Amino acid sequence: MPPTYRLALIGFGSVNRALARMIADDGGRMGERLGFRLSIVAVSDLLLGSAHDAGGLDLGELTALPAEQGALASVRGGRAEADNEALIKSSSADIVAEATFTDARTGEPAGTHCRWGLAAGKHVVTTNKGPAAFHGEELRALAAEHGVFFGIEGTVMSGTPVLRLADNELAGCRIDGFKGILNGTANYVLGRMEDGIAFDDAVAEAQSRGYAEADPTADIEGWDVLLKIVILAESVLGVRLSPDQVRRRGITGLSAEDVAAAPRDGHRWKLIGEAKLGAGGAVDAGVSPHRLPHSHPLAAIGGATNAVTFETDYLGQVTVSGPGAGRVETGFALLSDIAAIHRRVAD
Ligand SMILES: NC(=O)c1ccc[n+]([C@@H]2O[C@H](COP(=O)([O-])OP(=O)(O)OC[C@H]3O[C@@H](n4cnc5c(N)ncnc54)[C@H](OP(=O)(O)O)[C@@H]3O)[C@@H](O)[C@H]2O)c1
Repeated sequence: MPPTYRLALIGFGSVNRALARMIADDGGRMGERLGFRLSIVAVSDLLLGSAHDAGGLDLGELTALPAEQGALASVRGGRAEADNEALIKSSSADIVAEATFTDARTGEPAGTHCRWGLAAGKHVVTTNKGPAAFHGEELRALAAEHGVFFGIEGTVMSGTPVLRLADNELAGCRIDGFKGILNGTANYVLGRMEDGIAFDDAVAEAQSRGYAEADPTADIEGWDVLLKIVILAESVLGVRLSPDQVRRRGITGLSAEDVAAAPRDGHRWKLIGEAKLGAGGAVDAGVSPHRLPHSHPLAAIGGATNAVTFETDYLGQVTVSGPGAGRVETGFALLSDIAAIHRRVAD
């Protein structure tokens, strides 16, 4: 009989709902393919309230829940108020899945949610860039102290396995740097500007397709990429950067004419996040628009797709591309971190 891991979901918006839906639809096959089953025993969300049932919450009720204030009060073991602290620290969960709002200046309160979980001896998986970018070192140390796992695969390219690729498959290589297209909205907008669409219209189109937030500043001004650079630099290069050590320039300074004209000379404008190790372990990191030749592996990455190229000693350039956002894709990142926990527990 495969083991069952009990989950506490903190934040029950797009990503954790997608995870709940995967468990509801695919739980049996998950047992066969991955060797474990999942039971959701706790949910806490600012909008919806909270619920706890050590025997497992009803997945049908959870996945059908309307996005309405206090909606969790209607399920067995539910109430209208969020209860993050008690459910993280004291529920019967083995794993906390943190998918609340990202604060791009402090990483809180999500950092505290992760801290509570790890200090209580629970594994924590998160898609939230805040804890990883602002508190990564501390949270990894806390996880090691308590013998648990802190999984952040979904923070950089949602379900596309970029951190684990570097950590596992490229472990025998030295990685000296990386360059990536790490924001799908900015990449989509640049692609449409190449087609001759004005910047504002391209942003509005990205919003109508669900790629861009109502306030697209973090995407087009490079703040989102900046946090991903901090996370990648620490995970892949082993260098701790604070966000203010990363240079930042977004795409608003590019003229429509420049972007549309570049392909005529065999180039394309891309918003590139990069970091490179220099002499003595110094690191140069930044996000800014680059005019790449068509021959560059990142030049062909179009639409909302993301990609990152690692500079390695034995393999040269290794590029991985795939979705960098999306609720199912990001929910999958949580599942892949849970599978990593299972491999560790089973070893
Ligand atoms: N969706 C993606 O494609 C994607 C990709 C990569 C990473 N991520 C990251 O994953 C996380 C979740 O994303 P999402 O798309 O699921 O967001 P979402 O749809 O906005 O859902 C977040 C949910 O968490 C709730 N929440 C906010 N602060 C909370 C708190 N302190 N305690 C409890 N609940 C809280 C929100 O309630 P209110 O509505 O009342 O605030 C909302 O219901 C974010 O950090 C996001 O940046 C998302």
